[in-house]
Amino acid sequence: MQTILVTGGTGYIGSHTVVALLESGYKVVILDNLCNSSAKVVDRILKIAHPNAQLTFIEGDIRDTNKLDQLFKDHLFEGVIHFAGLKAVGQSVTHPITYYDNNVYGSLCLIQAMNTAKVKTIVFSSSATVYGEDAPVPYEESMPRGNTTNPYGTSKAMIEKILADQCIADNQWSVAQLRYFNPIGAHKSGLIGEDPKGIPNNLLPYITQVAIGKRKELSVFGVDYPTPDGTGIRDYIHVVDLAKGHLKALKKIQPTHNNPQEHRQGSGEHIWNLGTGQGYSVLEVICAFEKACGVIIPYATEPRRKGDLAAFWANANKARAELNWQAPLTLEHMVTDAWHWQQSNPQGYN
Ligand SMILES: NC(=O)c1ccc[n+]([C@@H]2O[C@H](COP(=O)([O-])OP(=O)(O)OC[C@H]3O[C@@H](n4cnc5c(N)ncnc54)[C@H](O)[C@@H]3O)[C@@H](O)[C@H]2O)c1
Repeated sequence: MQTILVTGGTGYIGSHTVVALLESGYKVVILDNLCNSSAKVVDRILKIAHPNAQLTFIEGDIRDTNKLDQLFKDHLFEGVIHFAGLKAVGQSVTHPITYYDNNVYGSLCLIQAMNTAKVKTIVFSSSATVYGEDAPVPYEESMPRGNTTNPYGTSKAMIEKILADQCIADNQWSVAQLRYFNPIGAHKSGLIGEDPKGIPNNLLPYITQVAIGKRKELSVFGVDYPTPDGTGIRDYIHVVDLAKGHLKALKKIQPTHNNPQEHRQGSGEHIWNLGTGQGYSVLEVICAFEKACGVIIPYATEPRRKGDLAAFWANANKARAELNWQAPLTLEHMVTDAWHWQQSNPQGYN
């Protein structure tokens, strides 16, 4: 049984990925400082996976180098999936140092500890934002890292570059840079889902909080974009499909003990877009939610938000060809599962 370290594993995408790992027979150690999640997630994960699943939760920060070194001494990890990070774009503009410290310095601490322990396989949570503001759509992995528009995006591009350089320096490193598009939805059990603190930054949690009566109306930022209905277009992907993409990527880049030749094939830097390849506008998502869930969402239109792009979506061919991975769950699944999660947990994990 292989053991995987999952940083940020009690968070939104991390928790869904831990479920997928446990269900596939991995042993998992979560390291999370709970700055944007709850320890209650651990029990929920076990309820879904199996009460006896091999899961250890350690509360701690990736910048705590002593803790990290001890963790790598205590466990024999086959690889790391690295979700831990701060992700609010707007907050990164007002608090850049916090973001570079947490995301970039934190990742450096982790990579350093991995190197010392000779654990050289990592799946990294990157983002479509690294393509920058001038990239043509759909985004393809062969495009260069672009002009990022905020410190959050820059922190992701910097971490990608650090990992890429490490692969050049040491050919035993295997790195998957997974560029996510817009994860939404929740596990179908309704036990885990997205639980934003304060006013949600993302569309779907905002919609579900309006639907449950927690907020009066939805703000739609920007109705004058050069898109068919004037609202922004994004490539929404079900978080469960996204989670499964991590397993495929991990398996692809992991060294196999009985086949060193295969190890060499998996090593180096690999970039994969994890999206559906299809974009939906804000108004289309609202309509899909109203239709699938039978709740009307009142909304007010607001000016564009600084730094938001008009429209982007993935070219998802590379992940399909190389990982044999696709995202089959539809927008209807995404909104229905998000609504089920919100109804089952009106106050999130509280
Ligand atoms: N959700 C998205 O739309 C999206 C899109 C692209 C990329 N990403 C990236 O995916 C990753 C996971 O995103 P998410 O939506 O699950 O976010 P999340 O906030 O739900 O999860 C991140 C987890 O990391 C933990 N964490 C943060 N800093 C830490 C630190 N220094 N030490 C230990 N734990 C720490 C938080 O407590 C949280 O549990 C993040 O790196 C994010 O930037 C997310």
